[in-house]
Parts: sequence; C-alpha cells; structure tokens
Amino acid sequence: MPFIAIIPEKRGSKKTWQSAPRWLAKGMRKAEQKNIHQWVLDGATIATMAGGKTPYGLVEQAALAMDGERIAWVGAATELPVSYAGWHRKTLPGGLITPALIDCHTHIIYGGDRASEWEMRLLGTSYEDISRAGGGIRSTVAATRAASEDELVTSARRRLDDLIAEGLGTIEIKSGYGLDTQNECKMLRAARALGRDSGVRVRTSFLGAHALPAEYEGRSDAYIDLVVEEMLPAVAEQNLADYCDGFCENIAFSVSQMRTVLEKAKSLGLSLRLHAEQLSNQHGAQMAAELGALSCDHLEYVDEAGVKAMADAGTTAVLLPGAFYFLGESKKPPIAMLRDHGVSMALASDCNPGSSPLTSLLLTMNMGCTLFGLTPEEALAGTTRAAAAALGLGAHLGTLEVGKTADFAYWDVDHPGHLAYPLGANPHRGQIRTGQWVT
Ligand code: NIG
Ligand code: FE
Repeated sequence: MPFIAIIPEKRGSKKTWQSAPRWLAKGMRKAEQKNIHQWVLDGATIATMAGGKTPYGLVEQAALAMDGERIAWVGAATELPVSYAGWHRKTLPGGLITPALIDCHTHIIYGGDRASEWEMRLLGTSYEDISRAGGGIRSTVAATRAASEDELVTSARRRLDDLIAEGLGTIEIKSGYGLDTQNECKMLRAARALGRDSGVRVRTSFLGAHALPAEYEGRSDAYIDLVVEEMLPAVAEQNLADYCDGFCENIAFSVSQMRTVLEKAKSLGLSLRLHAEQLSNQHGAQMAAELGALSCDHLEYVDEAGVKAMADAGTTAVLLPGAFYFLGESKKPPIAMLRDHGVSMALASDCNPGSSPLTSLLLTMNMGCTLFGLTPEEALAGTTRAAAAALGLGAHLGTLEVGKTADFAYWDVDHPGHLAYPLGANPHRGQIRTGQWVT
C-alpha cells in the first residue's frame, strides 16, 4: 500500500481529485434547485467510527446514501440495495470519508492574548505562580470585559476558521472570562452568534466558576453565591448555555463549591461537565460523575476511585494534550486505567490563550498519540464518537450510521491512520454538514 495516497487523475476527465469538492458542491446545489435531496456517494473509503470489531468501522469501496439531513444507508457499494438505484449518484475519485470532527472543549472566545505570560513561563515562572500573582485567567478576564460582543465574535472567528479548515463540524465553546453576569452572558451570546455566522454547530457551556475575579479576592464563597443566585438563573432564563462547567483546582474552586454550582445547574436543566484533576487530585471527577456529568476534562491527576465513578456514570474523559504540552506538564492522564475501566476518551483542543493556544484538531490527535499513548484509532474516535458522547450528542453525531445526521469530512488520504500521523499537514478536502456540501 502506498504510504501517502495520491489519487490519480482520470485521463480525459475534468473530475480530478483536487477539484472533487467543487464539482460535488456544484452538482449538489443544482440538484437542490430541482428539489433532489436523496443522494448516494460512492468511490471513497468510509471510516464510520461505529465501534465494534472492525477497526475504524472501515468500509472500502463504500457507498453512503443520504436522505436530506440523515444517513439512510452505509456499507460496501456492491451491497447497496436496489431500492437506492433511483437516487442521485456521485462517484468520488477515491479518498476517505469520516464523521466531521468535533471539538468538545474550547475557550475559543476571549479578548487579548497571553503571549507575554508564555514568555514568563519559558523563563521559569509557573502557570500557578502567574495565576496567584493576578495574571493568567484574570488578565484574559480584563481583556474580555473590555471587548464588545462583535469584537469577540470577530477574533474567535479566525480561530474557528482554522478548525473548520481541518474538518470541524461541531464545537463546544465556554464562557469563563467574563466572571460577572453581564460579561458571562456577553460571551455566551458571542458563542451563539459565532455558530449562526459560521454555520458550524455550536454548543455552549457556562463557566462562571472558572476563576475568582479580582473584585472578589478573599471572598470565594461570596462569588459562588453570585454564580448560583444570579449568573446561573440569568443564563438559564435566556437559554444561553447547554452545559455548566467549572474549574475544580487549588488555584480555582473546591469540590464543595463546585458541587453547589453543579447541583444548581442541574436543577435548572443544564447538563454538567467539569475541569477536574488537571494540576492536582481534588477528587472533583468523582463528585461530578456522581452528579451524572457528561464529561470530566484534563484528568492528569485522577485516581482509580475517580475513574471508577466515571465508568459507573458513563462519564466521558476529555483529554487535552495541548494544555499538557503547552504548560510543559509531565504527569499524564492514566490512559491504561481509563481503558481498563471502559471509560470513553475524547480529545479536544482546549483552545484558550493561556494554557493551549491550539487551533488544530489534527495536531491534537497527533499529540494524543505521541504524548498520551493513544492509538491513532482512539485519537480519531476521540474527536468523533467520544467527543459526541461528551456533548450528549452521541445519538445524532460522531459516527456514520443509519439515522444519524449526515455530517462528514472528506480527506485526501487512503486510510484513517494517516490523519493523526503527520505534523502540520492538512489533507481535508471538503465537508458535508447536515446534508449540505459546505466547502
Ligand atoms: O482548560 N484549566 C482551566 N481553564 C483553561 C485555562 C484557561 C486559561 O489559562 O486561560 C484550561 O486549560
Ligand atoms: Fe479548559
């Protein structure tokens, strides 16, 4: 098998590999005008990521039938039932189709940057020391408060476009740099606007309990009261968030403070997630799992009790190798223990200005393998199937199976193992989002 797939151009045909997205998009647009919404795509390999025994759920010489927004059939082209014979058919010149990628943990909306703090860290000051000295998250809070909603959308859009260029279809975006009701709501509105403007599916997390704002110095419980009594009700009332998150850490909030926040969020109908055991073991993962959290994120310091609680609750572990790398950490999350307990592992960029200014899910996948020891298949599952589960969207997204949303990415590789492998390559060639060709 060649190392990198070069799909030969068909002599005499204008339908070359590189132009495939264009002619496919054109064909689909024309068909839409004629009210044709039933399609069969064939000619490519498909990594369904459906789980089970076949690695990557791989189907070579595959066909995928789409009925509008939904996947109607997927399998070997030779087995396509005759009932699909009348559907509009497009044959791709090779390549690979995977579920569109999902970034299930980002702080992509923020003001300013923290390049100078990065320099301080390179010269020896720790992330915790910068945070304790009033820098870190607090410096991003000042810049975010100063920015308008439109400015936040515009600056985040550049970062989002980087992710879209690598096959992203869905993103989770957190607040957490406003730290008062008005600015937390501003961030969440900006996140929703970013979804509308870009066409990408956005899910939002309220992260009011991210850091203690300067005006509450020494009054941490009073700030938690504000989160619970004012911010959460306002966010829920305006339907600005799908999930509630928090930072459970010795430089942020305790387990009992986070329990108060998560319990209130749950009572308001929000799903739960938590930054847990990133820099130390606070036993936050166990608490969040017991409350039914969809995900616990970071987890470098999680112990077996935490992992077991996550397994029992079906909580997804969201691993963030970008933060591990950028902070120069050495303690890795316990991958073998998570595997042994059957905890599903997602991978996300954690895109944020302080600990992970990362806008590449392909690089995230590579780092998941090289830094944490995931297999390339686990890495792709981490940005598809497991990421969908982390967002509670597993019934609709994350795998290419009948009944799910037709959200997929088209790649210039012949095997899914080649997605996490290269550093800095981008083989993405196009994307179908909710049944529409968008690239
Ligand atoms: O996920 N851990 C807490 N929150 C972010 C960091 C945010 C920041 O430093 O601005 C994270 O790594
Ligand atoms: Fe984070």
